[in-house]
Amino acid sequence: MSFNVDLVRKDFPILSEQVYGKPLVYLDNGATSQKPRCVIEKMAAVYERTNANVHRGVHLLSQQATDMMEDARRTVQAFLNAESHREIIFTKGTTESINLVANSFCQEFCKDGDEIIVSCLEHHSNIVPWQIQGSLRGINLRVIPINENGELDLDELKKLINHRTKLISIAHVSNVLGTINPIEEIIKLAHSHDVPVLIDAAQSVPHLAIDVQKLDCDFLVFSAHKVYGPNGIGVLYGKEKWLERMPPYQGGGEMIGHVSFQGTTFNDLPFKFEAGTPDYVGIIAFATALDYINNIGLAKIGEYETELLTYATEKLMQIDGMRIYGASAHKSSVISFLVGNIHHYDMGMLLDKMGIAVRTGHHCAQPLMETLGIEGTVRASFAFYNTKEEIEILTEGIKKVSVMFS
Ligand code: ALA
Repeated sequence: MSFNVDLVRKDFPILSEQVYGKPLVYLDNGATSQKPRCVIEKMAAVYERTNANVHRGVHLLSQQATDMMEDARRTVQAFLNAESHREIIFTKGTTESINLVANSFCQEFCKDGDEIIVSCLEHHSNIVPWQIQGSLRGINLRVIPINENGELDLDELKKLINHRTKLISIAHVSNVLGTINPIEEIIKLAHSHDVPVLIDAAQSVPHLAIDVQKLDCDFLVFSAHKVYGPNGIGVLYGKEKWLERMPPYQGGGEMIGHVSFQGTTFNDLPFKFEAGTPDYVGIIAFATALDYINNIGLAKIGEYETELLTYATEKLMQIDGMRIYGASAHKSSVISFLVGNIHHYDMGMLLDKMGIAVRTGHHCAQPLMETLGIEGTVRASFAFYNTKEEIEILTEGIKKVSVMFS
């Protein structure tokens, strides 16, 4: 183990909670992560001492809140190694970030008959926004298939790219299978055809260090709440050369240069895409979350989570009737499974009664479920504050449920 997990757990108040009188075993980190005390306290401190609307007031508190929010933007910039703070747009989550790009990019760059490529393992939020644009503008969706291990078929991708391809929008890590997609290779391939790439990093940012300049991706999106920050905050990273040319997504306060009834001019980046009062308190606390994980180090986090994944895979595979979905050689700390004929919902509900929180269902990836020929799975997703003891509790829990159904 590369750091002291017992010490780390003390930073997360909720991990000492009990559910149904049993210690909470929280294995639903793919859905949302828990928050360290420093993040919770930061939110309280801003509300208690600095609360005032940002970018608007001449008064001291407004200036302080504005400075704190803009410092947070620079923390995100450094976290992603973006070239400029102008490339960091705050949204309300990954979903809104993708909708923003889908709306503004397609409005500016796409016409009837153009194509957007996604993959078979995308979350609905990286499918539906493109379909909406498709029906508005006659854009067609093309889909990269997967092999039996849940890995993308890059030979098929090569066949899909053509002169009508306007964008490839792809998950870095599958929220169901845990597959870590070879985005470096995909970006190089796309760029050799002058096609930009959007990376949905919602499931990778908590586990893998990201360098947008090294990756050379055109857009990258993620949510603060999955990376130990507050809910309701998202990030859109975009290269200035695209963001400059894209029209605003929403109109309102802050995104304008000058408004008259004859017409409106728009603000500079990043504000052009940030209409309305942002959740500056959440954004400031999000920077605290990034400082917290930077302090531990994503390399250490990733190493420990891989250890948990290996241990959990070994343990679960010893259970009779266990089927794990997703066997990529490069896999994040997510295990989707079914046992015998036990319905995923029954398994999840009974594990819950033992204090074990997992997600069940289609995981907002119905097309992937259709490809796998199943309705849903049980999913255990690990964070760096999980332990091998918790994996043993999960294993014993699954065995108990199996006995009930035998
Ligand atoms: N996208 C989140 C998940 O996979 C909610 O659970």
